[in-house]
Amino acid sequence: MISVEELPTPSVLVDLDVLSQNVARMQRLANEAGVALRPHAKTHKSPEVGRLQLEAGARGLTLAKTSEAEVFAALGFDDLFLAYPIVGADKARRLLALADRVRLTVGADSVEGVRSLGGVFAAAGRRLRIRLKVDTGLHRVGVPPDCAVDVAARIAGLPGIELAGVFTHGGQGYGAPTPEEVARVGRAEARVLAETAAALRSAGLAAGDVSVGSTPTAASAMTGAGVTECRPGTYVYNDRSQVALGSCREADCALSIVAMVVSVPAGDRAVVDAGSKTLSTDPMRPVEDGFGAIVGLKSRIVRLSEEHGVLSVEPGERFRVGDRVRILPNHACVVANLHDELVAVRGDRVEGRIRVAARGKVQ
Ligand SMILES: Cc1ncc(COP(=O)(O)O)c(C=O)c1O
Repeated sequence: MISVEELPTPSVLVDLDVLSQNVARMQRLANEAGVALRPHAKTHKSPEVGRLQLEAGARGLTLAKTSEAEVFAALGFDDLFLAYPIVGADKARRLLALADRVRLTVGADSVEGVRSLGGVFAAAGRRLRIRLKVDTGLHRVGVPPDCAVDVAARIAGLPGIELAGVFTHGGQGYGAPTPEEVARVGRAEARVLAETAAALRSAGLAAGDVSVGSTPTAASAMTGAGVTECRPGTYVYNDRSQVALGSCREADCALSIVAMVVSVPAGDRAVVDAGSKTLSTDPMRPVEDGFGAIVGLKSRIVRLSEEHGVLSVEPGERFRVGDRVRILPNHACVVANLHDELVAVRGDRVEGRIRVAARGKVQ
């Protein structure tokens, strides 16, 4: 068995012990809240990690793209929710093929979008399960809560469609300045969605599934009355932004990058061999602060080009060419998506590989 010290740099590491603890903790929270856990697999895109989540008790997985669902279905995952407004007859034909193999549910926020899917299912004598996306404050996609009954009624009346419920993503929690504010966002996310589901039921519409979730808001949203499911994703690896948001401690970050100092051109500047091709350019949340922390030190990466990560060296810290450093990235999901394989470790011992089987699937 080789050690982390012997790995080529940069390499992306996942500590299996920390990963297992993260999986177990979120499952325990969901069990205590009495809701189903349906982790968003966008973070890992990996069958090995998805299986760990199911073995711990997750109901199924969440994905965003039809092509991601195709990868997971081919690997034997049989209960998938595409939490994304899928649109178009070409996608519908692929969803129909998927629905033969898996219990499939798809997100939507428009009558036109659902109509473009329902026609294909109706022609095949089938019905596609749809959850209506409700905007509870992120203002990205989703119908405003006060329009939900109207849109849901029109969707439910379309041929080839079965309305199954509602969902939301409290991503606005990523902008909350304190953990207390994050929790407030999560409680509001749950309340608004549960009220919307109740309004649908009062109008005679089906709204059995009431699905919330992001990593920062998971704990506060999943305990809301009327919530049936939670879909956090990042918790499985965690990252520097989650530490800053108060979702976890630094010790709960399973994913890190081992990189090498390749240049020290000035006393206050050092350069590592992990640039945007390794780390992505995603900003730190909730407040922008460079592109990655150096574990155990104050210096951080303040500038990136594709193969260069430029460190601003803090007074009292010193880097030499050839030093190996451990980087905590701003956002674990985008890092995983940049790599075919991650290195599974326990402490300093290399244990194997984690395939990012559904990486780069955009269609
Ligand atoms: C619709 C949806 N659900 C759930 C999640 C998971 O949230 P997080 O990455 O904060 O765990 C995301 C993340 O982008 C999302 O877009």
